[in-house]
Amino acid sequence: MKLYNQGARPPAADAASHSAVSFAGLMEKIEILRSTLRWSSRLERADIEKLLKQATTLRDEVMGLSHKERFVQAAAGGEAPVHEEVERMPRERRQALLERSFIFEGTFGDNPKLLESLETAEKAAPTDLPVLIDGESGTGKELMAKVIHANGSRQDRPFISVNCGAIPDSLLESELFGHKKGAFTGASSDRRGKFESAHTGTIFLDEIGELPLTGQVKLLRVLEAHEIQRVGSDEVIAVDTRIVAATNKDLRSMSKEGTFREDLFYRLSVIHVSVPALRERRDEIPLLVAFFCDEAAGMLKRRPVRLTPRLRDFLMHYEYPGNIRELRNLLYRVSCLAGDTADLVHLPQDIRPKPAALAVVPIGPVGAVSALPASLSEAKRAASDEAERAFLERGLQEVGGTVAELARRCDMNRSHLQMLLKKHGIHSKDFRGQREKG
Ligand SMILES: Nc1ncnc2c1ncn2[C@@H]1O[C@H](COP(=O)(O)OP(=O)(O)OP(=O)(O)O)[C@@H](O)[C@H]1O
Ligand SMILES: [Mg+2]
Repeated sequence: MKLYNQGARPPAADAASHSAVSFAGLMEKIEILRSTLRWSSRLERADIEKLLKQATTLRDEVMGLSHKERFVQAAAGGEAPVHEEVERMPRERRQALLERSFIFEGTFGDNPKLLESLETAEKAAPTDLPVLIDGESGTGKELMAKVIHANGSRQDRPFISVNCGAIPDSLLESELFGHKKGAFTGASSDRRGKFESAHTGTIFLDEIGELPLTGQVKLLRVLEAHEIQRVGSDEVIAVDTRIVAATNKDLRSMSKEGTFREDLFYRLSVIHVSVPALRERRDEIPLLVAFFCDEAAGMLKRRPVRLTPRLRDFLMHYEYPGNIRELRNLLYRVSCLAGDTADLVHLPQDIRPKPAALAVVPIGPVGAVSALPASLSEAKRAASDEAERAFLERGLQEVGGTVAELARRCDMNRSHLQMLLKKHGIHSKDFRGQREKG
């Protein structure tokens, strides 16, 4: 079964005829039965019993199929089943993914949680099973959806992204399914919707948790029947679209509360991929920092910026409520504002550590602080250095990077001031324009 055999990738047509499809087909039938049961208000008890029985039989068949295929796989000496893969060393797992020419438009390290998500995505990719990706904002859900598309048999077909949270209710149906000329005021020509555009490819339903209940019903119907009707048209159009959805909400809880249809949740989440928050994979930060410094340098057409040790420390220990997107934005920002070397002063003010906090720069594992200085005089010198640096940075900020002005305000000799700036590796030009920003 394709789900357990990633080493040898059969051609696309072969994959379609493999049992992964029948596995999906069976799962689908179960869901159809379940939703018929759940939403029907007119079924007699006898019908309900009959449908339930069918559902149970189908479920057994699915379990049996999956069990048998695993057995055949093991007997044929095929690839390691999932649980063995998880037991392998993270470094080996990462290496194995790369050796299988895994397509990923970013970078990843040895973090076990992330590797597990990537391996699940890789296994799901060649099937047509619906995938639900969840994770906090900025963790890389859209990137993961692209991974699933790029590693599957539809990779040369369209990948159509729909932000379900951004479509007004009144336009939802037309946006997803298209409309016929004259179907409503403003429908001046025939228009095809996202599902039709994604025909033979993948449709990425982003922020699916934002989809209003009316839209959920319509979406469910398409998932069940694989066909759509443009608004204002009677013509039924068959669509072959692989569904990948993403959310930063807890859809299970939402379906318990009644704000997300449970049947739709089950249909979308046949495969579930969770993308861990950055704070749960801090070991990936150095890799991501290097990746984004290079990426920013390419974009800004300059050499990659160097980071002072204390900025690096900050980046290693920061909480990243905005996850990878926030880290990426920070590195683009410091790459743009700094000269050769970026420091804490190039961080946005709202997250920049206060000067007093700088004397105790965290190092090592999270929560650890720097070792006690060897002597009192060393501690005093370090604190005085920090105070001097903070004073210079604050001063330069206030005068917008004009050294002569700072020297005048502080009644200091300009060349002495230049010497101090040099000692601390501070570049006055990095502060130009900051006065206005406050
Ligand atoms: N492993 C990675 N390597 C490189 N870049 C990454 C990685 N993961 C995410 N990114 C980048 O981080 C940014 C955010 O990723 P993405 O848009 O996929 O997140 P998201 O979870 O969809 O966010 P949101 O919930 O806000 O829509 C993108 O620029 C993406 O390219
Ligand atoms: Mg997104």
